[in-house]
Amino acid sequence: MGRLDGKVAIVTGAGRGIGKEIALTLANEGAAVTVVDIDEDSGSRVVEEIVSAGGRAIFVKTDVTKYDEVKDMVSRTLEEFGGVDILVNNAAVWNIKLFKDTVPSDWMREININVVGVLNCIHNVLPHMIEKKGGRIVNIASDAGRIGEPWLATYSGTKGYVISLSKALAKELGRYNITVNCVSPGVTKTPGAQKFIESVGEEKLVKAYPLRRLAEPKDIANAVLFFVLDESNYITGQVLSVSGGYVVG
Ligand SMILES: NC(=O)c1ccc[n+]([C@@H]2O[C@H](COP(=O)([O-])OP(=O)(O)OC[C@H]3O[C@@H](n4cnc5c(N)ncnc54)[C@H](O)[C@@H]3O)[C@@H](O)[C@H]2O)c1
Repeated sequence: MGRLDGKVAIVTGAGRGIGKEIALTLANEGAAVTVVDIDEDSGSRVVEEIVSAGGRAIFVKTDVTKYDEVKDMVSRTLEEFGGVDILVNNAAVWNIKLFKDTVPSDWMREININVVGVLNCIHNVLPHMIEKKGGRIVNIASDAGRIGEPWLATYSGTKGYVISLSKALAKELGRYNITVNCVSPGVTKTPGAQKFIESVGEEKLVKAYPLRRLAEPKDIANAVLFFVLDESNYITGQVLSVSGGYVVG
């Protein structure tokens, strides 16, 4: 028996990295998972992995910045699995540049995917969660959005937005038994972060982390699992850093 038997989850950016691990973790607990990604090959491979392990999953190629594509993706989920209980907003991008060296297209890409993508997904699942009087929304933020990181100013801003949005929505949606929480990673060993980790050097980076290692995607997925289990039914509007003590309090 899985702890999420009978539940349906949508995970964005689930083709690789943290999103992939979240999809695998929720499926392993019995949830049916809609794997959402802009990249068809990687997303389909994640579905194959879930299905070959005995789980239930579909891939729906979606660009989260496109409202109508997101709407269709939610409709596919409802057709296939009959509902949606969990939304994990994970898809995001970042540019590592000093703000003075950025150009508007750099910020617009981050704002579109990291902010508008999250709004599109939440807005489209809400009618169904409200009707069912229940839902779990977990937004993947970043410690950059909590404390601000140089070289990541515009990305930090998008993640700060996600954190404030989550707190406000937690207050709006509590009456429908919908919780909204954030998991806030520090540097995590994913394909998206690989170049950055190599350029700074892992040994140098870990010195900023009291637990003296970088996160694995599984560390982040475990925190997401916590927020969607029945045991956390009374927790909403919270931001949980999973970063080995990098940000405390
Ligand atoms: N890796 C880190 O160090 C780190 C640190 C803090 C926060 N985070 C956050 O964790 C989350 C996952 O990061 P990651 O490192 O696994 O990223 P990643 O780059 O390895 O994977 C991101 C996935 O999102 C997909 N994606 C990108 N744009 C999309 C779009 N428009 N529509 C749908 N899918 C899209 C990509 O195809 C990819 O599969 C992000 O929200 C990120 O901001 C990561």
